[in-house]
Amino acid sequence: MKGDITQLIENNRAWAEEITSRDPMFFEQLSSHQSPQFLWIGCSDSRVPPNQIAGALPGEIFTHQNVGNLVQLNDVNCMSAVKFALEELEVANIVLCGHYGCGAIKAIIENTAEGLLKKWLEPIAHLYQKNKIELSDLSAELAYKRLVELNVLAQVNSLCRSSSVLDRWTNKNSLNIHALVYDVGNGFLKDLGVKISSKDDLFEFQRSAYF
Ligand code: CO
Repeated sequence: MKGDITQLIENNRAWAEEITSRDPMFFEQLSSHQSPQFLWIGCSDSRVPPNQIAGALPGEIFTHQNVGNLVQLNDVNCMSAVKFALEELEVANIVLCGHYGCGAIKAIIENTAEGLLKKWLEPIAHLYQKNKIELSDLSAELAYKRLVELNVLAQVNSLCRSSSVLDRWTNKNSLNIHALVYDVGNGFLKDLGVKISSKDDLFEFQRSAYF
C-alpha cells in the first residue's frame, strides 16, 4: 500500500464489501455489542497485526498495543484496557504477545533509545541488566531472541499483579493468561508454554522465572 489515504479508504471499502457479500448481516449484528474471547496485549509493530495473524474477525479480539508490548501498573492506558476487557467485557483469556525482531528490544541491546522512548523502555533496560550474564553466553542473535522472550514473561508477571487480574482469580472466575512470541520471519506464533489460570499458577510461574 502506498502512503496514500485515498488508497487506504478504497481498500477499506473493498474489505467491508467483501465481508458483507459473504455475510450480509455481519456488521449490523456486531454494531450493537462486542463479546470478544481474547484480550491481546502486543507490540505496535506494523508486522504484528493481532487480528490478521490470529485469523480473527472484527469482534473477536480486544487489543492493546504499545511499543515493546509493555504492561506497567502505573500506565493508565494499559490498565484501563485490562480493566475494561476483564470487568466490562468479561474476557476470559489474555494473550501477551511479543515478537522476534522487535525494535524496542534491539534499541535496548544497542543502547540507541533516546528521550521519551528511552524512558518508556526503561523496564526492558532493567530486564536486560538483570539477565546480562545469562544472555552473554549466547550468540548475539540468540540473545536478542531470548530477551524478546524474557520480556514477554516479565510483562505477564506484571499483568498478573494488576488488581483486575487478581480480583478475577480471588472471585474464582475463569481467566487464562498466555505468553506468545510471533516470528516476523515466518508468520508463526510460538507458545512459550506458560498458562496462568490462578494465583497458585502465578506463584509457580514466579518461582521458575528469571526476573
Ligand atoms: Co516490537
